[in-house]
Amino acid sequence: MRRLRVALLFNLKRNVPLPPDAPPDALAEYDTEETVEALVKALEAGGHEVIPLEGDVSLLDTIRQAKPDICFNICEGHRGDARESQVPALLEMLGIPYTGSKILAHALSLDKAMAKRVWRDCGLPTAPFQVFVRGDEPLDPSLRFPLFAKPSREGSGMGISSRSILHNEQELREQVRWLIKTYRQPALVEEFLPGREFTVGLLGNTLPPGAKPPSDFYDERGFHVFPPMEVDLSPVSEAGGLYTSQVKTENPLGPRYLCPAPIEPELERELKRLAVAAFEAIGALDVARVDIRLGSDGRPYLMEINTLPGLNPHYSDIVLVARAEGVSYERLVNEILNLALRRYGLA
Ligand SMILES: Nc1ncnc2c1ncn2[C@@H]1O[C@H](COP(=O)(O)OP(=O)(O)O)[C@@H](O)[C@H]1O
Ligand SMILES: [Mg+2]
Repeated sequence: MRRLRVALLFNLKRNVPLPPDAPPDALAEYDTEETVEALVKALEAGGHEVIPLEGDVSLLDTIRQAKPDICFNICEGHRGDARESQVPALLEMLGIPYTGSKILAHALSLDKAMAKRVWRDCGLPTAPFQVFVRGDEPLDPSLRFPLFAKPSREGSGMGISSRSILHNEQELREQVRWLIKTYRQPALVEEFLPGREFTVGLLGNTLPPGAKPPSDFYDERGFHVFPPMEVDLSPVSEAGGLYTSQVKTENPLGPRYLCPAPIEPELERELKRLAVAAFEAIGALDVARVDIRLGSDGRPYLMEINTLPGLNPHYSDIVLVARAEGVSYERLVNEILNLALRRYGLA
């Protein structure tokens, strides 16, 4: 492979312009220097020249000076209801190739309710739900308590705590009002899924007709699905058995990550099938991680898809599942780059 100029586009925590009324977990989605340094190293080890750039408004100028062959995009975006789509939109406008999903898939992935509507339309299992924009809308009588409330378009466990589990309408009204006010966006209320929690990382793309998979790392459909990881939250039960951002990054006991998950082959196949179907339904590209929980009926339900899964070299879920399978961080990062290069005919 020839040496390429790869612009690494990110949003560092320290550069986020926070409004004075930002919630305490407002920075949870953004990246650390540690992640950026690890990505630079990995891409350089792949034989490329790397130009790290902050993905803020300065990007419009810096990217045109940098003249990259391709961008490795991990930008969360600083504001707005489709913040993860902003850098892809700019790159589309400039005609510059980039890794990962495009505008619509990132927007759907960020907006959990919209993704659920797409999945429901495709016949994929996801918990029944209702979106509250104002907070005083009549509660859909078909929803059964306990319910669960979260911000409709955040990630990394933002706005989630033991108070997210709602046992009655009074708790629902209080939490929904708090979510709308604190995160300045609609609240998503869905049926509480009481079962085991899994996350499934995958790489790949739907192959065009007649096309061969990029390598034997990928299956005949063009995907490499990592073994599902179970997030066993019993050691952090004071957080309500939920995968909150605090539990993920700060809790010294932490959840137990079981990878591969100790599950029957049948459930493993079903989790992998659902992850690929969820990915294809929203039109994701190259990489994603799909969060799934078992419902009271013991069946898996799609919670959300992350089209920009965290790539911290030490604790991000997709990095852990890759490592458990013997895929190094360096390989994971370069597989993502190579998938994008192939899509653009640059490989
Ligand atoms: N319907 C639900 N029932 C039970 N737990 C849920 C439900 N939705 C989310 N959770 C819990 O909250 C965590 C974060 O929710 P998720 O939808 O993955 O959003 P994000 O990771 O973007 O914050 C999940 O990992 C899970 O522990
Ligand atoms: Mg999640």
